[in-house]
Amino acid sequence: MARIGFLGTGEIAGAMVRGLAGQGHRILVSERNADHAAMLARTIPEVTIAANPQVVAGSDVVIACLMAATARQVLPDLPWRSDHTIISVMVDVPHGDLATLCAPATDIALTIPMPFISSGGCPLPVFPDAASVTALFGARNLVLPVASEVALNAHFAASALSAPILRLLAEGTGWLARETGDPVAAEAYVTALFAGYMTPDGTGRHFAGLLDSLATEGGLNAALRAALEDLGAPAALGAGMDTLRPRLGLPPATGAAS
Ligand SMILES: NC(=O)c1ccc[n+]([C@@H]2O[C@H](COP(=O)([O-])OP(=O)(O)OC[C@H]3O[C@@H](n4cnc5c(N)ncnc54)[C@H](OP(=O)(O)O)[C@@H]3O)[C@@H](O)[C@H]2O)c1
Repeated sequence: MARIGFLGTGEIAGAMVRGLAGQGHRILVSERNADHAAMLARTIPEVTIAANPQVVAGSDVVIACLMAATARQVLPDLPWRSDHTIISVMVDVPHGDLATLCAPATDIALTIPMPFISSGGCPLPVFPDAASVTALFGARNLVLPVASEVALNAHFAASALSAPILRLLAEGTGWLARETGDPVAAEAYVTALFAGYMTPDGTGRHFAGLLDSLATEGGLNAALRAALEDLGAPAALGAGMDTLRPRLGLPPATGAAS
């Protein structure tokens, strides 16, 4: 059981609160967004709404879920203690900046939840390796310590694969639904199809192996893949990820996209 506070009660905070519900924690959420905070307090018994200073003062673990510019304004004025544990999910606020903004607290970890942390099964890259993240989220999610902040930021870039890949899946599912007239069945088919691919084989080339198995000459998969490659789609994705490098402090790309 922990006293947990959330600063910034938005999309990702709400998902994390729901993921922590029912485990005996006492959870304080900050007042903004007011409607979202009220909904969480109404539906989850252990949630109480408080002003930012009370969230920090009344918590042992503070989870920072603010936008970066807000964090830089708000964090320095809060009553931080040296015994606070801080978990930041914020992009664009490096570990060193957090240490300054939240002094004298030093137990600070960065991680990258996704909205489905609400129901568990979320990969959680974390830097530095932190007992707090494992203790709160490890039982239901996959905690993946990474070796450096640069590596963590590369995972931020990879987390941004979600929207473009989901966009492609939505496009393909919509295409199927238009053909069959049944959007519910189309969704069921495509989600089950891709769930079947999503158990890594532990070789580090799981997706490459799957592509090999779908490369039958003259097959539909090979034909559609070739059509998309002719349009530049896979290379465009790698190039798109490279555009995130400056913002995330990643070194310039060294090789051509495959
Ligand atoms: N969404 C994701 O999937 C995701 C995943 C990983 C990491 N993150 C990170 O999580 C952070 C939040 O993202 P989000 O998607 O949850 O954004 P969001 O829904 O906009 O949440 C931000 C929250 O901060 C609140 N806020 C604004 N000013 C505040 C203040 N002075 N004091 C307290 N709260 C204040 C906002 O309230 P108002 O609406 O009233 O302004 C809003 O509820 C970002 O740094 C993002 O990089 C998000």
